[in-house]
Amino acid sequence: MTNPRDRRYHTPGVLKLPNDSVARLRPKLQGRAVCVTGGAGFIGGHLVDALLSLGCRIRVIDDLSNADGRHIAELVDMEPERVQFVHGSILDDRALDDAVRGAHTVFHLAAVSSVPRSIAEPERSYAVNALGTLRVAEAARRAGVGRIVYSASSSAYGEGERLPKVESDVPAPVSPYAASKLAGEHVMLAWAKSYDLSTVSLRYFNIFGPRQPADSPYAAVIAVFARALLSGRAPVIFGDGLQSRDFTFVANAVLANLLAATADRPLRGEAVNIGSGSRLDLLQLARLIAERCGATHLPPRMEPPRAGDVRHSQADLTLARELLGYSPVVSLEDGLSRTIDWYRGVRDHCANDAGT
Ligand SMILES: NC(=O)c1ccc[n+]([C@@H]2O[C@H](COP(=O)([O-])OP(=O)(O)OC[C@H]3O[C@@H](n4cnc5c(N)ncnc54)[C@H](O)[C@@H]3O)[C@@H](O)[C@H]2O)c1
Repeated sequence: MTNPRDRRYHTPGVLKLPNDSVARLRPKLQGRAVCVTGGAGFIGGHLVDALLSLGCRIRVIDDLSNADGRHIAELVDMEPERVQFVHGSILDDRALDDAVRGAHTVFHLAAVSSVPRSIAEPERSYAVNALGTLRVAEAARRAGVGRIVYSASSSAYGEGERLPKVESDVPAPVSPYAASKLAGEHVMLAWAKSYDLSTVSLRYFNIFGPRQPADSPYAAVIAVFARALLSGRAPVIFGDGLQSRDFTFVANAVLANLLAATADRPLRGEAVNIGSGSRLDLLQLARLIAERCGATHLPPRMEPPRAGDVRHSQADLTLARELLGYSPVVSLEDGLSRTIDWYRGVRDHCANDAGT
């Protein structure tokens, strides 16, 4: 099903969770049946790797609208008894029922996942992210699922001045993406209250790491900068470069999902920040990436700002610590090094392939 030459860059285990986390999580997750929507995507793929290594049985549903399917195909090849793939949309109830059947936990990550794409395609983005989340909640309810862990977004905060962002801040979405992801949170809260379904919304701040797509017009900033600098091109910054983000390595988001799935306390639609708790502006980020790429001679090229982007963001992690016992396990610097190493590996692999 997959080309063995691709395996080196798509195999599980790119991320390793700390041993003490694994020791605490394994007894709770071993043998558990779970469903991962959007499990062929960037974060979903790493989550599936972790769930597999912790002994879960996993069904993934993904329509492959933003994933090439190689990673999930490889996992199905390797572990056909424990990983099943439903190629379908979360807007299709039959496919969803198939995916959710028998699951104790649903990790809901499927979404049109980019702000610029939502500006270009607001209706599709809203349909998948908001209505799709309602469909996932309904399918979970039909199937008697124990808990939904929803991948929400810090974009819900919008332009509020106050930093760091606290969950009690009034949301003020400034893009169709942010509005649709916030609607998904409301579904999580309302379904918990109305139907006694255990749900939680993890508001991710900018997540990055290996396997994040770098080659689409909607790719995320760290992937785009790494690809440009490793190819000898200057990265492009939209705006003055002083806009800042809480960049969070993907292992931290995966850990948050696992903690949310295994938390003993009842979860009732709470929205919880998941980030690193610090922030960096884009000029600083470009410099850190350039250092790791050996390309400090390539300063960023500045272009006009883009619609829908917020100016600053940074997570307050107090609630995440209290409710889930979450704190980041991989620092920004370490995460950046691991990510750049991975992109460099892909570049060299492709260059070798081209030469053979
Ligand atoms: N990456 C981040 O920084 C970030 C930040 C905040 C929130 N999130 C949220 O985390 C989740 C995962 O994000 P990601 O970065 O891995 O994005 P991603 O695009 O890599 O993953 C989303 C997956 O959903 C799939 N999908 C899209 N529409 C679908 C549909 N109708 N039915 C089934 N599958 C569908 C895509 O093919 C893709 O594989 C998303 O819900 C996103 O909104 C991500």
